[in-house]
Amino acid sequence: MTTVLKPLIVANWKMNVSVRQSVRLTEVALGAYDHRAKRSFSLVLCPSFENISAIVPMAQKTGIDVGAQDCFWETGGAYTGEVSPRALKDAGCSYVLLGHSERRLYLGETDAMIARKVFAAISAAGLTPVVCIGESRATRNAGNYFVFLRKQLSESLRHVPRTTRKRIVIAYEPLWAIGTGTPIEPADCARVYRMLKAHTHRLLPHACTQILYGGSVTAENVASFIAQGVSDGALIGGASSKLNEFKKVLKQLLHT
Ligand code: PGA
Repeated sequence: MTTVLKPLIVANWKMNVSVRQSVRLTEVALGAYDHRAKRSFSLVLCPSFENISAIVPMAQKTGIDVGAQDCFWETGGAYTGEVSPRALKDAGCSYVLLGHSERRLYLGETDAMIARKVFAAISAAGLTPVVCIGESRATRNAGNYFVFLRKQLSESLRHVPRTTRKRIVIAYEPLWAIGTGTPIEPADCARVYRMLKAHTHRLLPHACTQILYGGSVTAENVASFIAQGVSDGALIGGASSKLNEFKKVLKQLLHT
């Protein structure tokens, strides 16, 4: 697939942001996302479920997309507490984060569960999945983390038909870089990016894929991560959920 897409910036507000703060952060995004910004990058805001309805009307017709932080693999039924991908679509979401390492760690999500979610998000709801993968420090130190990442990716995408032409976003987030203030080195990121790009292409040769980097991305380093050949964009947690930091990130993106 040779389509050249703008860098994709995904803001993951996790469980850190109240409805009022979500509205303020969205106002900041709206203020920064002018014509010039629209030409240079795509922007997706991922509030927690309860804040989606406050953000969607604000983002409508602005070019900014809204995403959820998770969804279930069924579209309806007796699944107390779960959220249907179709309901998210109806609520105005166009993206969904899946397999974030915090869900793998605290909720016990496995590649098999994530694979079902990815399939449901795409096929039942037409959502663009942002599939998160990443190795721990121990796996990296053991030296076989390319094998680990390829397996995580293959397993998570296993139900997606090989013929798909849909958009699929992969977020490479090394666990040791998330929320630690220590991101990967851009040159190191570029190596993983090349490997993931090639592997995704082998798995889904016709899909339109983007590989993002996530883990301690800030205004200071975002430019180095979205540079060509390093990644196709960034998944940003902490720095996207504080007003001033988010402002700085968006401003920086305009100058890259
Ligand atoms: P961080 O989080 O930017 O705070 O490291 C990234 C993520 O968990 O998606």
